[in-house]
Amino acid sequence: MSSWASAWRLGFVLLATLSTVEASTLPPGVEGIGRLASDAEIAAWDIDVRPDFLGLPAGSGDVWQGEEIWLAQCASCHGDFGDANHIFAPLVLGNITEEDIAQGRVAALQNPAITRTTLMKVPTLSTLWDYIYRAMPWNAPKSLTPDEVYALLAYILNLGYVVEDDFVLSDANIRLVQQRMPNRNGMTRDHGLWSVSGSPDVLGHTCLSDCVVDTAVTSSLPAYAMNAHGNLAEQSRSWGPYPGQWTAAPLAQNEAVSAATLTIPTQQLTTAGCTACHQMTGLLVGPSFHDIRGRYVGSEHAAYLQNRITQGGSGVWGELPMPAMPDVGADALQDIIAWLISGELDKKGSEG
Ligand code: HEC
Ligand code: HEC
Repeated sequence: MSSWASAWRLGFVLLATLSTVEASTLPPGVEGIGRLASDAEIAAWDIDVRPDFLGLPAGSGDVWQGEEIWLAQCASCHGDFGDANHIFAPLVLGNITEEDIAQGRVAALQNPAITRTTLMKVPTLSTLWDYIYRAMPWNAPKSLTPDEVYALLAYILNLGYVVEDDFVLSDANIRLVQQRMPNRNGMTRDHGLWSVSGSPDVLGHTCLSDCVVDTAVTSSLPAYAMNAHGNLAEQSRSWGPYPGQWTAAPLAQNEAVSAATLTIPTQQLTTAGCTACHQMTGLLVGPSFHDIRGRYVGSEHAAYLQNRITQGGSGVWGELPMPAMPDVGADALQDIIAWLISGELDKKGSEG
């Protein structure tokens, strides 16, 4: 703790605003810069809970309290039973047996067809405690009290049948519960990445001038493996810098696109909000659908358009960005893309 504390202090010295300087206690080299962090400031940052539960605040909470807090603050993203695949991968989704709990190794992890959940994987209870206290709920991190975290964890463990319905989790019994963590023996350090003595076990060289930089993407998953975990674009968070890639087979690619069946998907475009920025002819915020359709005739453009629509982008038509539109829905997206790429077939110009 003491070396960490001094590291924290040094960090604060460098970060804190210029004010009273206790020059005599500052490490050499940083005199005159900022001030020492106070114990209260350090305590506010120093919240890590380690695998041996060092740092764990005292407190307790039961499954029922946990369920109440869960439904109010967590279920909207993780599902009522931690099973949602909407914003993040499921936290709990069955596939943990009494045998696993006895062995400390979740057998279903060996089966690639089974969805891996947080509770199936995580070996240490401290990690869950720390993570929830530190980072959840996602929209209001660090807003939970220790008792609330105990209660939430009791609820999550109960969902996985690790503890009974009437269980009260506390700092006094958490070590015993650790002994029931389903995958507590699932962590290995045998791969050697943790212990490096002497020189590292990798070879490398550093290029310092005239280095060849290859920016081409030279590898990607083969088509048959792309969809191994379902279509990420439909599962992942719909905001932030990394919306999910479209990994399902490109829509409309093999559709028999025929002029006879294609009409303007007016309703889909309106419902999805596209018409706020695109009109049939003439520039609005974005290019006209007439122009877009003229540019992307043919099914080879389907996958590209899908990614552009679900992930947004800029620079093709101008500076204005198109936002990611991940919530269009697979059916509407299919209709829209089939229509967009059908330009030549639809020469009659049904858009008028
Ligand atoms: C607004 C949406 C949202 C809410 C509300 C929310 N979470 Fe999360 N949660 C997420 C996202 C997104 C992640 C993944 C974050 C990341 O990887 O950066 C996550 C991750 C987690 C994880 C880690 C799972 C893992 O395998 O890494 C746990 C545990 C968790 N949340 C528990 C909770 C609890 C308990 C609450 C309620 C107090 C809560 N969450 C509320 C969105 C949310
Ligand atoms: C907030 C405004 C806005 C909304 C809403 C919007 N777009 Fe766009 N869209 C744009 C802009 C701006 C561009 C030009 C981006 C560029 O130059 O790369 C664009 C470009 C496009 C392109 C051409 C992409 C390319 O790479 O050539 C397509 C296709 C498209 N939008 C379809 C849609 C669809 C379908 C919807 C509804 C689901 C939609 N847009 C909603 C503003 C918007």
